Amino acid sequence: MSEVSTIKITKTTKSRLSETDLKNVPFGKIFTDHMLVADFVNGAWQEPEILPYQPLSFDPSLSAIHYGQSIFEGIKAYHNVRNETVIFRPYDNFARFNQSAVRMQMPEVPEEIFIEGMKELINLDKAWIPGYDNHALYIRPFMFSTDTFIGVRPSSTYKFMIILAPTGPYYSKPVRIAVEEKYTRAAPGGVGQAKNAGNYGASLKPTSDAQAQGYDQILWTDAFEHKWLQEVGTMNVFFVLKDKVLTPSLEEGTILDGVTRRSAVVVLREMGLNVEERKVSIDELIDEYKKGNFLEAFGTGTAATISPIKELAYKDEHLVFDLEKSSQTSIELGKRLSDIRLGIVEDVHGWIEKI
Ligand code: COI
Repeated sequence: MSEVSTIKITKTTKSRLSETDLKNVPFGKIFTDHMLVADFVNGAWQEPEILPYQPLSFDPSLSAIHYGQSIFEGIKAYHNVRNETVIFRPYDNFARFNQSAVRMQMPEVPEEIFIEGMKELINLDKAWIPGYDNHALYIRPFMFSTDTFIGVRPSSTYKFMIILAPTGPYYSKPVRIAVEEKYTRAAPGGVGQAKNAGNYGASLKPTSDAQAQGYDQILWTDAFEHKWLQEVGTMNVFFVLKDKVLTPSLEEGTILDGVTRRSAVVVLREMGLNVEERKVSIDELIDEYKKGNFLEAFGTGTAATISPIKELAYKDEHLVFDLEKSSQTSIELGKRLSDIRLGIVEDVHGWIEKI
């Protein structure tokens, strides 16, 4: 990062930090003192600014509200064991953000705004990073269209922002997952690979239906046969069999290319496991479960980190995992990733960005 910031900063006159219990922060409810804002107007990004965290005000015809040109990312920052402030793989999220932007016909955000702006903002609010196990500073970059016009066309103006939320674990306990048989998240050629707001909006009804049946989340399946597994509402998914680890592959463009997923594939291979990224059907998993070969399942995500799955339910089948006995892979993977983030082991992959 440049020694001298070029970003205009207006500091808050009243920090909320002393009123915040960083040990008990629910995910996504508490935000730090500042936010970054940059506007795209007249075909160009304007200088970003850091301002006190505050509400925004808009015209009711704001195009993002009507037609959903709105994308986001999730990234985490930590204090490592040397008390340095580090961000985990921000360039991967930066690249994915701009891929989402292209798919949603939005302007790409330059590195000076996304990465340098993020570092500057975190540096200003780094006292908000919780120093507790399984806690982090969750970074939420997002962009939405701001034309005040309700004709259907791409907006000509956009707002890019970053807000920061100190957070504990997203799931406080292992999750029960229903395999979705009716609704569809994404089909080839759709927007499944983009991290756009609408994907999450569309997931709420099917997820609420599953929650009414006692599940925490749904596992999406393909649009045509509802048997090829895609991703869970808030995370990618891995299945540990006796001789291999399976995770749905990316080539159909229906699931998110998760940064934690990517990291997990590398670390699981370093653990000596045979990871197959390919099409995985629920029938294959049921079959392996009945043979006693399906040992463990877990989700991966920035917010969710590594989340053990207690149960997968599909029609009348309930694949239940005894986590006391069989969560070694997810525990070891979680520990290895945490050791990298916290600087306990060397960052041989270049995943850690120091501020
Ligand atoms: C993340 O893991 O960062 C996500 O974006 C998932 C969810 C909280 C929307």
